[in-house]
Amino acid sequence: MIGEAPRARHWLRAALAVSGVPSAALLLLMAAGELPWGAGLAALVATLLAGAAVARVWLGALGGLARQIRAAAAGDGVPDLQVPPLLPSVQAVADGVTRLARSLAERNAQVDLLRRADAAIIEVLPDPLLVLSAARVPLRANRAAREMLGPPPAGPAPADAAALLRHPALAEALDKALAAGTPATADVLLPVPVARDVAAHIIPMDPPLADGGRVIVLLSDRTRERAIERMRADFVANASHELRTPLASLIGFIETLRGPAADDPAAQQRFLGIMAEQSDRMRRLIDDLLGLSRIEMAEHQAPAGRADVAAVAQAEADAMAPLLAMRKAKLLAEITDATAAPADADQVAQVIRNLLDNAIRHGRERGQIRLAVGPGAAPDGRRGVTIAVTDDGPGIPREHIPRLTERFYRVDKGRARSAGGTGLGLAIVKHIVNRHRGTLAIESEEGTGTTFRVWLPGG
Ligand SMILES: Nc1ncnc2c1ncn2[C@@H]1O[C@H](COP(=O)(O)OP(=O)(O)O)[C@@H](O)[C@H]1O
Ligand SMILES: [Mg+2]
Repeated sequence: MIGEAPRARHWLRAALAVSGVPSAALLLLMAAGELPWGAGLAALVATLLAGAAVARVWLGALGGLARQIRAAAAGDGVPDLQVPPLLPSVQAVADGVTRLARSLAERNAQVDLLRRADAAIIEVLPDPLLVLSAARVPLRANRAAREMLGPPPAGPAPADAAALLRHPALAEALDKALAAGTPATADVLLPVPVARDVAAHIIPMDPPLADGGRVIVLLSDRTRERAIERMRADFVANASHELRTPLASLIGFIETLRGPAADDPAAQQRFLGIMAEQSDRMRRLIDDLLGLSRIEMAEHQAPAGRADVAAVAQAEADAMAPLLAMRKAKLLAEITDATAAPADADQVAQVIRNLLDNAIRHGRERGQIRLAVGPGAAPDGRRGVTIAVTDDGPGIPREHIPRLTERFYRVDKGRARSAGGTGLGLAIVKHIVNRHRGTLAIESEEGTGTTFRVWLPGG
């Protein structure tokens, strides 16, 4: 901005520049007597006034031009510069400036568009991403990062970002990436609020991003993957252990039959009985393991047929007679016509078999078991079939219920094993129900009994 006093000085100087030479000429002419004083003075005043007027118009036009150029430079739109018609050269400059400002505004709009596109892409990326400044201060966090690390308490940094960035492994990888200018990776274990395994990719940006971002930290949550890896390893260990126990007992009895019991027919009969039981346990275990892996392999492929659940349930209830007799238990079947579709009848039969088997084995001796089958709606209102198996056994403590469908998970290991199960029954049920897009609910009250409720789609 130009102040009042300098502006007056500018104006005076310009006025003198315009009218100085003709005024001096007039004065000279008057002094030489070539011009009468009266006319000379009048011409002098007119010249000075004209100079002042031209200076004013000039300065006004240029001042306006300067103001509008400043506004255009500040990004306040394209100026429409109009200059008084008697100054064509200033108008040419004004037109040039207008063109320049217009192309500048277009360029700015384009840069703005690109910047917004880049922010939008980062925002919707499915992987959590943080943009850091050179000082490692988070500048931006996309939606996935905010979901992973919690909403920002203030500013752009999610709540747990600080803890993440302070992690020694990540800090070291940041140092390395920034020093070398090449990407680095770090595996970070975040203990709070829930333990998470996070893999971080650190990518230095050179040149920096539009918002000054120097580093991109791309995160991927490996918690599930690691849990699955652990589960797989546990499964192999468990399965081997389950098979080794009966196998060890068979080997032991074979040795005894060859040695100490070689001449004891009564002991031989007893041992052979136990051996038959143990081999049967191994057979059941292998059957269940193979069955489970077959079901798992087909889990993502929906079944195609229809299952007459009433008929299947009746057949399974009838087949439970020997087991019921062994446990001196009673089965009450309340079966109404119901069809599950799309469904695999053999798998629906297996669900009912496993649930009845559990109710009889883990329920009360001389207990009463109820099997209820009929049309029913899912909690979300979809039409289908419900299968409910209720026993009046000891029930299941609440803390065990969420884990019952894990392979080899048993509430009371010793008792469950001696009850004759493989520990895979409910895992098989869960996978079959998942494959049918159904639901499984377990309600239990200690000392009163347990209900397993399965819903399958159909009509
Ligand atoms: N009706 C039930 N009452 C009490 N506990 C049960 C019942 N059904 C299942 N359970 C518990 O769930 C565990 C897992 O069941 P399952 O997967 O069928 O294995 P298994 O019957 O071979 O032991 C059982 O070991 C038992 O502890
Ligand atoms: Mg079972």
